[in-house]
Amino acid sequence: MLGEREVQTLIDMALSQRKFAYAPYSDFRVGAALLAGSGKIYTGCNIENSAYSPTNCAERTAVFKAVSEGERDFQAICITGGRGEDEPSDFCPPCGVCRQVMLEFCPPDFEIILAVNRERYEVHRLDELVPKGFRL
Ligand code: THU
Repeated sequence: MLGEREVQTLIDMALSQRKFAYAPYSDFRVGAALLAGSGKIYTGCNIENSAYSPTNCAERTAVFKAVSEGERDFQAICITGGRGEDEPSDFCPPCGVCRQVMLEFCPPDFEIILAVNRERYEVHRLDELVPKGFRL
């Protein structure tokens, strides 16, 4: 399990990633910070598209950045999101597509930190958020 210091670092990084979100269609800005086994942290934001379906979620941006740099071992991700530029007012759980991408690369005890701010957050496990997930 992650220590409090690591959790706080991931929350800070996810919150600050929201400023890079490209979300002109939904105005819903999401930030993610993914901790790899190497200790390196990969950040991500959502990147929308006028044709809608090419939109990439913040979590997948972070996972794809990491995998494209040779990382395949992950410990935890922090996700934070909400409308507008202000601090989020609620939790932003990962969408089904991002959960499936996490299943591809992350172990069952992978920690998913849903954060509203530094004080308000909850920690889940991947196998809790995706029970009976499909893996080959
Ligand atoms: N979004 C994410 O970045 N992550 C999620 O898990 C949920 C949804 C983004 C996609 C889209 O740009 C916006 O939030 C509204 O759906």
